[in-house]
Amino acid sequence: MESYSALRHKLNLLDDIPYTPDWSAAADFLDIIVNHCLSEKPSTIVECSSGLTSLMLARCCEINHFGKVYSLEDGKVYAENTRDFIRKYQLNEYASIFHSPLTTVNLNGSDFMWYSLEALPERTIEMLVIDGPNGFLQKNSRYPALPLLYEKLSDNCTIFLDDAARDDEKEIVELWRQQFPSLVHQYVETERGCSILKIDRSE
Ligand SMILES: C[S@@+](CC[C@H](N)C(=O)[O-])C[C@H]1O[C@@H](n2cnc3c(N)ncnc32)[C@H](O)[C@@H]1O
Repeated sequence: MESYSALRHKLNLLDDIPYTPDWSAAADFLDIIVNHCLSEKPSTIVECSSGLTSLMLARCCEINHFGKVYSLEDGKVYAENTRDFIRKYQLNEYASIFHSPLTTVNLNGSDFMWYSLEALPERTIEMLVIDGPNGFLQKNSRYPALPLLYEKLSDNCTIFLDDAARDDEKEIVELWRQQFPSLVHQYVETERGCSILKIDRSE
């Protein structure tokens, strides 16, 4: 918890937070997405998985007086837990946590379990944070995020992939870059690795 202290003070999140060792995003990843959110002030933030990321990004939107977080969360209990924290910090206006059960999608001939998109409003996404579904569920668990959401991304959207040091995530980034050649990739050395992707539509 100590590594989260600076962020908690910066965002005034000094009561309980939805922190679970090993499952919550690491402080250095949170630092990157929080700084981006505070400086770029995105209007629509979509995140795959909910928890500490949702709470911190919702607080950033409150500080910005702008923007909203839409979280896709497959675990009903985790969704409820995150909602409780959003309520507790009076951030309802800045975050919607959807219980989005995983459903089968077929992409390039392979089946994946991925979040149902039924609840997600039709909005252009300016910031996308990918920290789920869990890696142990299937090979390249987080791959569907871009094939399924790419058309909804704004020209200036920034995508953050957590756990990017893992072999699966490295492969996912390569697959995305082949499929979407206009993506520009930057890897940041964090505790678990962070891939940052932007769309370059200049050509
Ligand atoms: C890596 S966690 C990240 C959650 C969120 N982005 C955060 O930073 O708090 C991804 C997913 O793991 C699941 N999860 C959370 N805590 C868990 C636990 N203790 N055991 C199993 N799964 C868990 C939830 O469904 C969550 O969406």
